Amino acid sequence: MLNRRNFLTAAVGVAAAGTLAACAKEDGGPSDSSSGGSKAITLGFAQVGSESGWRTANTDSVKSAAKEAGIKLQFSDAQQKPENQISAIRSFIAQKVDVIAFSPVVVKGWDAVLNEAKRANIPVVLTDRSVESDESLFVTLVGSDFTDEGRRAAKILEKVLEKAGHKGKVKIAQLEGTTGAAPAIERAKGFKEVMDAEHKDDWEIVASQTGDFTRAGGKQVMAAFLQSNPDIDVLFAHNDDMGLGAIQAIEAAGKKPGKDILIVTVDGVKDGFIAMSEGKINAIVECNPLLGPQLMEVVKKVQAGETVERWIKTKESDFMQDQAKDALPTRKY
Ligand code: AHR
Repeated sequence: MLNRRNFLTAAVGVAAAGTLAACAKEDGGPSDSSSGGSKAITLGFAQVGSESGWRTANTDSVKSAAKEAGIKLQFSDAQQKPENQISAIRSFIAQKVDVIAFSPVVVKGWDAVLNEAKRANIPVVLTDRSVESDESLFVTLVGSDFTDEGRRAAKILEKVLEKAGHKGKVKIAQLEGTTGAAPAIERAKGFKEVMDAEHKDDWEIVASQTGDFTRAGGKQVMAAFLQSNPDIDVLFAHNDDMGLGAIQAIEAAGKKPGKDILIVTVDGVKDGFIAMSEGKINAIVECNPLLGPQLMEVVKKVQAGETVERWIKTKESDFMQDQAKDALPTRKY
């Protein structure tokens, strides 16, 4: 995964990107312009799936930005299965696309297929999620700082607790994202970092389990949490969809979401904002899915052999419940 140290290796990654892109052109792939007219860039994109509102917005953004940029998009939906993404990437290599972009379902298991792309001189751009792989195997990551999102969730929870007048011990339930996925690992890490540094004596995570980033998963796991821990004070859900599913379970248990159980989620999709404007979510840490335009810009640069930053981060905000009604009409996803 990318961290501070990785920034220092940016120059190496960028040089590799330039070489890969140049090699791809020299090989006379689909964008070879030596015969006169310049052909459109072909981008192979292996998406995670359609597990959440965030993902739907991300897919729409990638598709419309590709169209806008005149990039030919080969799109594949992995249905949350890493093996499907690996097959899709292999098929992109066989088709000799110019650039491959993908949002890895999980962080591990990519070395073999990324080496195959490298041998075929096809540059790989990561989008949204990172991998734990040799960094020379991809050019850049276009996406959020998930560890920071976890930290921001803990910091905004301080405000939520203060606003609710909650004093003393805080029993927290955590709905984790897909096991082994970068946002699940890093959001949990960032949250715990602040908790351990500033709230060691009063905050406790009493239950933590994956809801796979889905509404159904959030509902099912929250129902089980409420059975084993009826006195939960706070829910930290790694995305809005799991939070929305959990709200159904909380209401089914006869409790009031946003009051009996304070809720902080990540993403900021419209449905999350609607629930927040109804008082059912207390705060949302934004994670912006509209990565398409930045991705297409990077793809063009990589294909042209230009340098790109090692990690192109997304700008995001945090929202408290009292901002929800005003913010809702301006939400773009
Ligand atoms: O990788 C981004 C995460 O994946 C989003 O927070 C979540 O909603 C999605 O499924």
